[in-house]
Amino acid sequence: MKALTALAIAAALSFSGAAFADADLSKKNACIGCHDATAKKLGPTWTAIAAKHKGDKAAEQKIIDAIAKGSKGVYGKIPMPPQPKAAGDAAALAKWIMTH
Ligand code: HEC
Repeated sequence: MKALTALAIAAALSFSGAAFADADLSKKNACIGCHDATAKKLGPTWTAIAAKHKGDKAAEQKIIDAIAKGSKGVYGKIPMPPQPKAAGDAAALAKWIMTH
């Protein structure tokens, strides 16, 4: 019985965790120093990035590449440095960015 309760709690926790995980990834990887959903910072907003790639089947791959290699000249004069530390989270981040 105790084990079942623990299992139910673990399941509930991992479920609620998933709902926040992707926004948390943008914090963990310090993307939010330069990006926000709607406020223009040093980098373009998540909304602008999602709008730019909307309808493009390769969108997520392009975003993964931009995270790995950086980006320049697409949105303005300020380049984005490569974010190699985020490599493991890049696919999840790309999916999440495209939901904006
Ligand atoms: C030092 C500031 C900075 C940080 C930190 C940063 N970015 Fe950027 N990012 C930029 C800038 C500036 C651009 C616009 C570059 C351009 O015009 O090509 C950009 C562009 C992008 C793009 C658009 C690429 C495209 O081809 O449309 C994506 C996606 C992106 N960033 C994701 C991220 C993610 C995810 C992180 C965290 C792992 C992150 N960025 C961290 C500054 C930053």
